[in-house]
Amino acid sequence: EKGTYPHYMLKEIDEQPAVVRKIIQHYQDEQGKLVIDRDIIDAVNASDRVYIIAAGTSYHAGLVGKQFIEKMAKIPVEVHISSEFGYNMPLLSEKPLFVFISQSGETADSRAVLVQVKEMGYPALTITNVPGSTLSREADYTLLLHAGPEIAVASTKAYTAQLAVLAILAEVTAKSRSLEVGFDLIHELGLVANAMDVLCDSKEILEVIAREFFSVTRNAFFIGRGIDFYVGLEGALKLKEISYIQAEGFAGGELKHGTIALIEEGTPVVALATQESVNLSIRGNVKEVVARGANPCIISMNGLNMDEDSFVIPEVHELLTPLISVIPLQILAYYAALHRDCDVDKPRNLAKSVTVE
Ligand code: F6R
Repeated sequence: EKGTYPHYMLKEIDEQPAVVRKIIQHYQDEQGKLVIDRDIIDAVNASDRVYIIAAGTSYHAGLVGKQFIEKMAKIPVEVHISSEFGYNMPLLSEKPLFVFISQSGETADSRAVLVQVKEMGYPALTITNVPGSTLSREADYTLLLHAGPEIAVASTKAYTAQLAVLAILAEVTAKSRSLEVGFDLIHELGLVANAMDVLCDSKEILEVIAREFFSVTRNAFFIGRGIDFYVGLEGALKLKEISYIQAEGFAGGELKHGTIALIEEGTPVVALATQESVNLSIRGNVKEVVARGANPCIISMNGLNMDEDSFVIPEVHELLTPLISVIPLQILAYYAALHRDCDVDKPRNLAKSVTVE
């Protein structure tokens, strides 16, 4: 039930802090340590490479998950779009573990890959929001998102839940390999949930920004470097699927290799600046587009912010920024769609779960 909310999407955006807290609770033992079924951790440790298979928003979560697993657990990860994988299979490592990320657990493209890799005899883990879903039943192992039903077609809380569960999977694997991750994930995820509260309370400001940047434009660009790039891909998908604005996310450094040709007077360019190591270079990209007339919307993280920024998110651990930097992008997409009179919860041409290949 959406209660007093005008749309499920807005309700689900607001549920994100509670979902992260629930995930922390669920994956914690009595001693306050993060835990995941031993079988699953053994399967990850037995593999020499993890292959993440997913579509759409879940694919974008996979791109961030790769960073978590590689940085914390030191296992190489490849991320593949499920519809491409089947006929374009990469050379596999000796001991692959397949990880399917799917909110619904019903995506046909992902299921086709699962059937294929099971036939090849490889182990598979599904990370899903729906217990008993097809992908959960057919995989060897399941990790649940505990995000509660997601009704709006545009995925919001499932994405952040996927990131939280992937971070926990990476941390627990790292610990099992006696690797030092260098921070206390439970504590940091608690700070993430608090930061999410702050962001969910910032809707008025974001509505004004959405009006300024998106009420009339035909197109929009999202740029970032490192993990900000992946969040930009998700921001662009959110915006295009519900507001029908043509939106593209790409790596800041790629601008000069073609996309900058599209910048015109007033083109909105949303730039994410949450990573210290690339803060100056992404701002250099902003200067390049501004010089060609772009309307820049810089979303930075507290501590890295500058006067010209449109919106500043609270500071969280650098690796976990995607869990919170995505929230202003979700809210901007929501208001952009609302201002353009679009059907927020049921965008045209889209279904909540895509059960055909
Ligand atoms: C976008 C969106 C879709 C899904 C995609 C995969 O907001 O919801 O891109 O992420 O169809 O769906 P699942 O995660 O159910 O496999």
